[in-house]
Formats: sequence, C-alpha cells, structure tokens
Amino acid sequence: MASAPRPLVAGNWKMNGLRASRAELEKIIQGAKASPVACDLLVCPPVTLLENFAAAVQGAPVSIGAQDCHAQASGAFTGDISAEMLKDAGASAVIVGHSERRMYHKESDVDVRAKAAAAARAGLVAILCIGETQEERQAGATLARIERQLDGSLPDSLDDQQLIIAYEPVWAIGTGLTPTAKDVAEVHGFIRERLTRGNARTGPLIRILYGGSVKPTNARELMAVPDVNGALVGGASLKAEEFLGIAAAYR
Ligand code: PGA
Repeated sequence: MASAPRPLVAGNWKMNGLRASRAELEKIIQGAKASPVACDLLVCPPVTLLENFAAAVQGAPVSIGAQDCHAQASGAFTGDISAEMLKDAGASAVIVGHSERRMYHKESDVDVRAKAAAAARAGLVAILCIGETQEERQAGATLARIERQLDGSLPDSLDDQQLIIAYEPVWAIGTGLTPTAKDVAEVHGFIRERLTRGNARTGPLIRILYGGSVKPTNARELMAVPDVNGALVGGASLKAEEFLGIAAAYR
C-alpha cells in the first residue's frame, strides 16, 4: 500500500489583507520555525500581496499560493490574472473552483477543469475545491454532487505533484458548522476511490483537504479522519495563532 501523503494546512485569506498584514505572516513564519509541524504550510493572500509575501517566506517552512487564475496564459482578458503571472510573482499553488467563485462568478466545472490545467501548465499546484450545498446534503444527494464535480472538473493527468482536492461543504464555509467525522470520512473515502480508479498509482497519493469552519478546537478530530490529508482554512487563517493552532494537529 502506498504511504500516506504529507499533509498540508493551507490558509485562504479571501479578500482580506493589506501590506501591513505581512506582520501576521511573519508571526506564522516565526511560529512554524519555533515549533515545527509535520505538515506543509501554505498561505494564499490576495494577489496584491503575493510578491511581498513570497519574498517574506524565503527559506521559511511556509509557501505562498493564490486564490484563482485565468485559464489562458495571456491575452485580452481585462482584470484577470494568469497562472503564469502568479508563478512569476512567487506562488507555488493556486486554489481553483472555490465555491465563492462558483457562486459569485458563475464558474462551471468546465471552467474549473480548464483552470486546473492552466495551473499545471504554469507549474503551479492546483487546489481544486468541490462540495455540496445544504439542500443537496438534506436531499441525500451529497455523493452524487461530488461525483458530478469530480467528473466535470478533474484534469486528465491525475498528477499527485500538481493536484490537491479540497472537500468543502458549502454550508460549512464561514458558518461555524462542520460535518460529523463520519460524514467527512464518507466523502473523503468516496473521493479517494474515484481518484484511485482514475490512476491506481497517483490516486492514493493525491492530497484531499477538508475545508469549512476548521478551527484549533476541531482540527485534531477532523485531521484524524481517514483520507483527510490536511485542511483548507478560511477565517481562522487570518490570525497566526489560530492558523498555527490548526497546524498543531500535526505535531
Ligand atoms: P472557513 O472557510 O474556514 O472560513 O469556513 C473555508 C474556505 O472557504 O476555504
């Protein structure tokens, strides 16, 4: 059996942070150096801070990622940012298909798939987000929704060095609600099975993160669930102490 992939705790700052927020990143760096954790750490600030933050993490056990990219490398797409540009600014990863992008920017699975492919072309790891709505969960349609999203948005090459999946139930994001460990295990096991069917060698190695109201108080329980290989953290990633408190689940 393949050994479990090294976990990742990733912070999604969303549309939060000004240059002064570098102080919070410095605290994360200091904390990670002072008490090492057995997981990778990634901070995804708004794109305006990418270059600044990438410079700050030089030599530190923290990497920098972005929150979205365009599917094309360049061109007449006013206001958009390509994966190549993110890489050039110092990002090593990019979130694609976050439910807020799907909701507010009407991104489809087809769009998300193109973005994941663009990330790989640029040499970025794509963190591909999927998750059901509250209505879908209540209707017992969670796994059907997850399967549709995977079928529609997974890139052809299931490369464990280029792809990470984040399971984020839409109803758990920013609400303080989380699924039970049993429900998380069911969905993560389902995703793992689908990935392994897609590629028997890399499927077991692709990291599957859980996201949605992860906090220092629930991280240990959630991270202990089989096939949970880390967390994608929103609100709690804005405070160094909370972000490090979540990563401490891997100490
Ligand atoms: P949350 O957000 O941790 O604030 O619930 C998670 C996310 O949107 O990635």
